[in-house]
Amino acid sequence: MAIEIIATGKAVPPKRVSNKDLAATIDTSDEWIRSHTGIGARHIAHEDTACSDLALEAARQALEMLAGPRREETLEEIALTLDMIIVGTATPDYYACPSTACIIQDKLGAKNAAAMDLAAGCSGFIYGIETAAGILETRKSRKRALVIGAEILSRITDWTDRGTCVLFGDGAGAVILEKTGAPREGPEKRGLLRTVLGADGSGWEHLIMPRGGSRNPLKPGEGLKTPLHLEMNGRAVYNFAVKAMTETIEKLLAEEGITIGQVERIIPHQANARIVQAAAKRLGIAEEKFFLNIEEYANTSAASIPIALDEMNRGGILRKGDLIMTIGFGGGLTYGGNLIVW
Ligand code: COA
Repeated sequence: MAIEIIATGKAVPPKRVSNKDLAATIDTSDEWIRSHTGIGARHIAHEDTACSDLALEAARQALEMLAGPRREETLEEIALTLDMIIVGTATPDYYACPSTACIIQDKLGAKNAAAMDLAAGCSGFIYGIETAAGILETRKSRKRALVIGAEILSRITDWTDRGTCVLFGDGAGAVILEKTGAPREGPEKRGLLRTVLGADGSGWEHLIMPRGGSRNPLKPGEGLKTPLHLEMNGRAVYNFAVKAMTETIEKLLAEEGITIGQVERIIPHQANARIVQAAAKRLGIAEEKFFLNIEEYANTSAASIPIALDEMNRGGILRKGDLIMTIGFGGGLTYGGNLIVW
């Protein structure tokens, strides 16, 4: 029995904001942003677009991939085969209730699926894959799960803070997991081989939306100078991220008993190209092994890895049988990685 990724999808808003566009409104420059982060642009959702809109588009694309070019099955029929929907997000349509996953379940007509959101910051997709795999494994009758990472970070960004606003973008990515009869061990092994998950809660203050929750709620009549937004200790998050990436890669390799040479590609969370370069240098891994699309999309948090997977899948970069590694880290502070045979 294996848990395989059988389809992918992505959604990115059409509005593209380049570094030069940003430099027209705040004190920054294309040169600073590129040299410190590797980011060249970000895509920003229209004000009428919410998290579930992007998530739904990504999910539909994944379902369409399963429907095949001749559409042997309708999207509605495929949606009925889903047993679980998980949305990793820090920017749900509604805080507290309902979950964005329930909105997706309704819009897809996935009546047989349980649905929930998962709050693990930028590691949401990694956590989501492991959670969905566990849920599929515990019941024989469960076969398919839809795992989405979706974010509208532009809505919780302080657009006057140049230390954070240059980093983030909007987007969604989705995969469909299926429990198949393929082996999980041996030369023909397929699917999710293992996952590392972790957290360092002592760093919870380093990436935080301080207002709006039960600790510090908005009060009636309170005038806000800026919308609710994320605050970040960039240096602390940077140091954590390099360490988390390095240790997670090492742990996945050691636990699986393989070398980095056997891994075709590493798909890191797209937070900062410099974080990836630093981890690559520490581990002596060629930078080309890491797939990066941060230049176009910036940091889309839980969406960044499934967006990358979809681009690689549709672009023919991933071939059946390739051993790949996903590595995530972010708010919480959380981290994790999946080792997957494509
Ligand atoms: N444009 C121009 N200058 C900027 C700037 C911007 N967008 N943002 C910060 N600066 C300035 C600072 O004001 C500071 O100026 P000063 O020396 O005159 O005070 C200088 O650049 C250096 O700032 P610093 O914060 O030390 O830069 P840095 O090298 O640490 O890079 C980050 C900042 C945010 C790029 C880096 O800390 C980082 O990537 N952290 C991790 C962020 C992240 O990935 N978060 C999400 C995790 S999921």
